[in-house]
Amino acid sequence: MSKTYKIAVLGGDGTGPEVAREGVKVLQAAAAKYDFKLDLTDFDFGGDRYIKTGEVLPDSASGELAQFDSIFLGAIGHPDVKPGILEKGILLRLRFELDQYINLRPVKLYPGVETPIKDKGPAEIDYVVVRENSGGIYTGTGGISQKGTPHEVAVQSMVYNRFQVERCLRYAYDYAERHGKKARGKGEENTLGLVGKTNVLTYVFDLWERAFNEIGEQDYADVRRDYYHVDATCMWMVKSPEWFDVLVTGNMFGDIISDECAMITGSMGMLCSASLNASSFGLYEPAGGSAPDIAGMGIANPIAQIQSAAMMLRYSLKQTAAADAIDAAVAQVLNEGIFTGDIAPEGAPKVDTVAMGKAIADRIAG
Ligand code: IPM
Ligand code: MG
Repeated sequence: MSKTYKIAVLGGDGTGPEVAREGVKVLQAAAAKYDFKLDLTDFDFGGDRYIKTGEVLPDSASGELAQFDSIFLGAIGHPDVKPGILEKGILLRLRFELDQYINLRPVKLYPGVETPIKDKGPAEIDYVVVRENSGGIYTGTGGISQKGTPHEVAVQSMVYNRFQVERCLRYAYDYAERHGKKARGKGEENTLGLVGKTNVLTYVFDLWERAFNEIGEQDYADVRRDYYHVDATCMWMVKSPEWFDVLVTGNMFGDIISDECAMITGSMGMLCSASLNASSFGLYEPAGGSAPDIAGMGIANPIAQIQSAAMMLRYSLKQTAAADAIDAAVAQVLNEGIFTGDIAPEGAPKVDTVAMGKAIADRIAG
């Protein structure tokens, strides 16, 4: 009998529901082809629901969502809601309550897609960012006192404990061992690069760097270690992206560098992500936002969402052949010159969101 997976679908805000629909379309095509079933449940968490009901996320949500095999999320963020309410109240709250302490973001340029970086192509742009997803300045304590006075004080602190740092680094080392350049037949070594700021954040990144070296020396002698300051990372990502293999960093730096990574792979619509922990449960979402400026226009690029579906099949549902088929279908469609507007080379025809989803689903069906 074929397996059935229970998936919670949170389309969310802006372009989220549009791209999530295409992700589901592609998942269904993969399910039909590889003989498994999807039991999908929609949740309406997001800005519209908040505006209507005043509730951001029911307290029962994370417990209820944890009953599913995975969460498939579009985007969170609404132009009529003050920034932070929905992002912290839904997306970040779910990441924290479900303890998804890793956010995996593969940075991969597809053949046929243009990168803004001169003279670099798919051979040079192929690395992964492992972003710590449960701590740092995202969960550090903070507050405002004497608000509205000239003496107003605002504090937001970057806090990490050894446990958080260590579990993230161990995940990154394991990942580098299994999927680094050597493991993929693309180089002579598997390399883990720590991205930090040891020259200024001399407490938090001292902890990171010591743990990085200790764990590496003790348990991962076969993984090469590199260290980069985060500002230099932004520079080298443009100048010499081929240096990078697996990068690991804290929550905030991971967030910031990943938008640059997205543009290097052609568009914000190209960067997929998985929020993970040691269990098989994951939260899968494109790394881009809700793009309210183009919401409802049907032009959003669904590829990051579709690739997030492939990650879900790979990491949570263990349907590797189906995940490979999605990756191959995306590559094929792009190779055939089928592009949404954000990645279409000058003068090339553009397809809309639905047509891109259909093209990829069709290639899977064969
Ligand atoms: C991301 C996003 C989120 C983050 C926002 C929407 C809260 O930018 O996933 O990168 O900062 O983590
Ligand atoms: Mg971000």
